[in-house]
Amino acid sequence: MYSPRPLHKKITLPYLHQLKQQGEKIACLTAYDYSFARLMDVCGVEIVLVGDSLGMVIQGHDTTIPVTVEDIEYHGTAVARGLEKSMLMLDMPYGSLNSQQQALDNATRMIKRTGAQIVKLEGGITQLKTVETLSKYRIPVCAHLGLQPQSVHKMGGYRVQGRDHDSAIEMKDTALQIQEAGADLLLLECVPESLATEITQLLQIPVIGIGAGVHCDGQILVLQDILGIAHGKAPSFSKNYLSEQPSIETAISAYVTEVKNQNFPDASHSFS
Ligand code: KIV
Repeated sequence: MYSPRPLHKKITLPYLHQLKQQGEKIACLTAYDYSFARLMDVCGVEIVLVGDSLGMVIQGHDTTIPVTVEDIEYHGTAVARGLEKSMLMLDMPYGSLNSQQQALDNATRMIKRTGAQIVKLEGGITQLKTVETLSKYRIPVCAHLGLQPQSVHKMGGYRVQGRDHDSAIEMKDTALQIQEAGADLLLLECVPESLATEITQLLQIPVIGIGAGVHCDGQILVLQDILGIAHGKAPSFSKNYLSEQPSIETAISAYVTEVKNQNFPDASHSFS
């Protein structure tokens, strides 16, 4: 049983791979500023993501689409100052990956300016070459499959992905190809638990889930959702930890503890 404790060393990709092999779950959260980043570092959150969700939860837009590279750099720089041991991951925003050269230039610039360790990019098979290019230039990459909020207008809404036989096969195949192309991590968003479990077992790289069931190698949620302060109806896969805790710090610790002990997500936070 895990009990709350600070991280004992700087989080690296080889260490995350080791956690996967040992079956210890990886706890991840989004953050957008120094103060929350500091709390997450102290509470043992292994990966802190400056997500393009900031377009919605910080800037008040309806989608993540308006977020720019400069926005991610601004928040990334602040978050980086709060992190001592956690790994900093930055989202590549909409329109920052329209060619491989553009993706390489943006990722290089974002990493240089913030000190982040890894970038995350949405996109399936269409981003395979981009993953390959970034990897070739030694930029660590987390690919993002399943629900991809930057494609909301193409997908026609925020829906669970990979529910039918053909799309499930396609997602498994894409995940394998993305690993082959050099991705270091994979994030699965809103994917049926059984499919996410299969992909997690198929891949050697750690798989982080959000709305993808308890069997992924790790979990991520949006900070505002675990604090119960996001505008509108909370996603069914998230959980308000602050409602059961006396402080923000203990709420973050409770989230980490439940992820590590595999008490979160339960069936009510997962899709079949
Ligand atoms: O932008 C974001 O916060 C994300 C998480 C939902 C994983 O991509």
